[in-house]
Amino acid sequence: MAQRRPLIAGNWKMHGLKADTGWVEAFAAAADTGACDVLVCPPFTLLETMGGLLSRHGLALGAQNCAEEAEGAFTGDVSAAMLADAGCSHVIVGHSERREGHAESDALVRRKALAAIEAGLVPVICVGEHRAERESGQAVETVLAQLAGSLPDISATQLVVAYEPVWAIGTGLTAGPEEAQAMHAAIRAAFPGADRDRLRILYGGSVKPGNAAALMACPDVDGALVGGASLDPDAFAQIVNLAS
Ligand code: PGA
Repeated sequence: MAQRRPLIAGNWKMHGLKADTGWVEAFAAAADTGACDVLVCPPFTLLETMGGLLSRHGLALGAQNCAEEAEGAFTGDVSAAMLADAGCSHVIVGHSERREGHAESDALVRRKALAAIEAGLVPVICVGEHRAERESGQAVETVLAQLAGSLPDISATQLVVAYEPVWAIGTGLTAGPEEAQAMHAAIRAAFPGADRDRLRILYGGSVKPGNAAALMACPDVDGALVGGASLDPDAFAQIVNLAS
């Protein structure tokens, strides 16, 4: 991790109202962000409000999804350019909750990542295996195939990969540090050239203050994508402080 600055990202999912934006001050009071980048991904409705509050503390704003199209008659969709316009620097694409709940394929995730790049955003591309795939010894093969299908042909410096085993998301189960390290090393090895060493690969899936230190200590784990624990400003600050 020495050559890569850690990135801790909070994915609020479908949580948060205006009344919850005091989170930013509470987090900023508890976190030491000097040695770590912090990204917060609230729901669309809070992007503008949160963006202003986050930027005062040098914290980045991201969205949880974007459309593959730049604009047009796509009722209910939000384009990457609109996210950039709202102050986002990053957007999560291919989260397993979208792959499953909204039938997003690798090809669609790839087009969304490309749309993000074209709008000047950094896509955080999520990949991860199901429990059955891990139990049958297919985890690495599955994740690398998903990655190959989801990655646009761009430099590793323009994106972030998040490895999130589906069986670990919101379940309280996490990959052990050895499992996480082995997968992160395999993901890194799939990238060609010198950029490989600059790629940031986040681990996600029930990351909490109690397990973050062991995960962050893995040489190829460059940070975390935190769901549930990111809703609590103190818990999220503790994770950030462990990574700094
Ligand atoms: P979790 O979610 O930390 O609540 O498991 C992680 C994610 O889905 O990004």
